[in-house]
Amino acid sequence: MSELAIDVHNLNKYFGAHHAVKDFSLQVAKGDIYGFLGPNGSGKTTSIRMMCGLLTPDSGSGKCLDMNIFTQSDEIKRHIGYMTQHFSMWRNLTIRENLMFISRLYEIDNAKHQVDKTLDSLGLASRQHQLAGVLSGGWKQRMALAACLLHQPALLLLDEPTAGVDPKARREFWQTLHQLSDEGISILVSTHYMDEAERCHKIAYLSYGNLLANGTIQDIIRAQNLTTMQIRGRRLSDLERQLRAFPVVEQTVFFGNALYVTSKDAGQLSDVLKNLASSDYEINQVETNLEDAFTWLMKNNNEKDS
Ligand SMILES: Nc1ncnc2c1ncn2[C@@H]1O[C@H](COP(=O)(O)OP(=O)(O)O)[C@@H](O)[C@H]1O
Ligand SMILES: [Mg+2]
Repeated sequence: MSELAIDVHNLNKYFGAHHAVKDFSLQVAKGDIYGFLGPNGSGKTTSIRMMCGLLTPDSGSGKCLDMNIFTQSDEIKRHIGYMTQHFSMWRNLTIRENLMFISRLYEIDNAKHQVDKTLDSLGLASRQHQLAGVLSGGWKQRMALAACLLHQPALLLLDEPTAGVDPKARREFWQTLHQLSDEGISILVSTHYMDEAERCHKIAYLSYGNLLANGTIQDIIRAQNLTTMQIRGRRLSDLERQLRAFPVVEQTVFFGNALYVTSKDAGQLSDVLKNLASSDYEINQVETNLEDAFTWLMKNNNEKDS
């Protein structure tokens, strides 16, 4: 048995002439929560579907839970839980009825016991008789997660599970994901939210079908080798306009009441700041954050492609 839940190499997918996923390779360790980030249309859903055998790649190789994604997709399906981007349920059935119905559909042994257990572990027991159609986004999502867990999968693939869910429910959802991970379930989850990326053990970042970075947050930030300076003071937007004229200034962003300036070249950036920003400004070097690293990666990739 391998230590990897997912191990794929050089996967490619074309939709007609459009090369949607390019030479995609990824290894996900068993029990890890792996975050999947990237703008809309970058190939997250396509990659997720290929990694678990739901969509056949045009080329490449790979295993999901030690099974071949090209030849054993039926077998893989029995061991994974896949929550689609726009999951559906029967609005006129209660939470419990939905889960019982799904259990029968998938011929789950001892369905009643399994439904009770799943309702309990996801905190849904007290709401089990509510109609699915009237639930808030957060509870609907929890029910969808329950539906994915009924057959006790070893790997969960969650495609933007928290889109449209309020912040409190999102936080609780992530607590549940960490509980599941503690129980040994591997999780691959796509998201748009930076705070969610920071809750993953590792992350992968896609743009235009290219995997631009993957690893721990620290790995990814360090690999970009960026320097970020924080500037406080008055008339910061004037200063920002001037700074943007310098090619050495890669990006500028306001956060709270400070301006953050990021560059590849610490020395040149410091010279520019010395010349432009008078002593009225308070300037400090700070750690580059994940969002800065992603912005840089995306900008760099766009320039390469254009
Ligand atoms: N079934 C399909 N037929 C044609 N094009 C598709 C299909 N699925 C996805 N695409 C295209 O492939 C690209 C990647 O899509 P997708 O994997 O859904 O990205 P993401 O999930 O990151 O938003 C997009 O340009 C999308 O329009
Ligand atoms: Mg998608």
